Amino acid sequence: MMVCEYKPGLEGIPAAQSSISYVDGQKGILEYRGIRIEELAEKSTFLETAYLLIWGELPSKEELEAFEHEIRHHRRIKYRIRDMMKSFPESGHPMDALQASAAALGLFYSLRDLHNPAYIRDSVVRLIATIPTMVAAFQLMRKGNDPVRPRDDLDYSANFLYMLNEQEPDPLAAKIFDICLILHVEHTMNASTFSARVTASTLTDPYAVVASAVGTLGGPLHGGANEEVIQMLEEIGSVENVRPYVEELIQRKAKIMGFGHRVYKVKDPRATILQNLAEQLFAKFGADKYYDIAQEVERVVEEKLGSKGIYPNVDFYSGLVYRKMGIPTDLFTPIFAIARVAGWLAHWKEQLAENRIFRPTQVYNGKHDITYTPIDQR
Ligand code: SDX
Repeated sequence: MMVCEYKPGLEGIPAAQSSISYVDGQKGILEYRGIRIEELAEKSTFLETAYLLIWGELPSKEELEAFEHEIRHHRRIKYRIRDMMKSFPESGHPMDALQASAAALGLFYSLRDLHNPAYIRDSVVRLIATIPTMVAAFQLMRKGNDPVRPRDDLDYSANFLYMLNEQEPDPLAAKIFDICLILHVEHTMNASTFSARVTASTLTDPYAVVASAVGTLGGPLHGGANEEVIQMLEEIGSVENVRPYVEELIQRKAKIMGFGHRVYKVKDPRATILQNLAEQLFAKFGADKYYDIAQEVERVVEEKLGSKGIYPNVDFYSGLVYRKMGIPTDLFTPIFAIARVAGWLAHWKEQLAENRIFRPTQVYNGKHDITYTPIDQR
């Protein structure tokens, strides 16, 4: 057998063949099924983009309407799921609540035929439809309120914001939120998608696939960074404090949250779009001093680390957008998950189409032929 060089973090090693999305990290290009992210952000909707990713082509008008209709009618969560969530500690992180709830959904739909397209579609619809309801339900119940029922007259994003805030959202905010979901839905072989594909390769159910991916997304090196960015901006507190703060982080070799990427060596195209969306919100609803701080952080980091290819990633400006919409900081990563679930499901479907269980090798660097020492002699 060929002996390969060990690469920490599997850097540069293809883990799958995929036609779902493409990144050119030198040029800052991201495409979903060949379509540039900028074009989808401008012209598409989250559900249409989800359809594109999962079924490979843009839907016809009838196909999109049918998909939207199915999603609309699967938004409610079972009262047993709601009651289970009610017993979660209010102090628990909403990502943990989401992971547990996504896994619990699988209890109601025991594994059926993974080769049956109707089963695949059913699971896709149920997961995309209910994950936002679960995130909103946990948010209201941890404040001691009853969850709000989804509203069938509202589209996907407007309905989520309605369930979260118990009032109909401003149309600009709902539109911008929908674009945010498009920007977060898919991103090649990132850690949570890899986790989803590994789990899928064992032929387990899609609820376990999504639950494992949610758990992976939550870490601060991945989706969890969006929450930490806001904490960092608050800690910096003023534009004047940016330079000494960043210099101190660099000096002790700490990571600056929302910066750097394994693939992008230029500014993440999603960060550019998110920055623009944040500006639209500030123009309509008033400025945010943390935006000035963020821009200064970007300037100083570029000056100090730009030569190493360290630029803002998707997590740097998203929090400022959600913050302006009044969304609590610890819901930023669950919102990332609301979007990414469609990407994970596209990879689940692609993995099943040509499945082989993931079973990489390792480079053993331990001992051999050690004799067992009885406990009283250790
Ligand atoms: C996401 O993979 C995806 O596609 C993910 C994602 C998606 O859509 O799914 O795009 C979403 O997860 C975005 C990333 C969110 N995470 C953060 O913002 C956390 C901060 N960023 C880093 O920790 C880091 O850049 C990673 C985790 C994103 C990437 O890690 P790598 O590829 O393993 O890079 P590394 O840690 O080995 O760093 C390489 C060099 C080091 O310097 P040297 O030792 O070579 O001198 O770059 C430096 C690092 O110190 N570096 C940073 C830095 N990121 C990298 N220095 C300061 N601040 C940073 N943020």
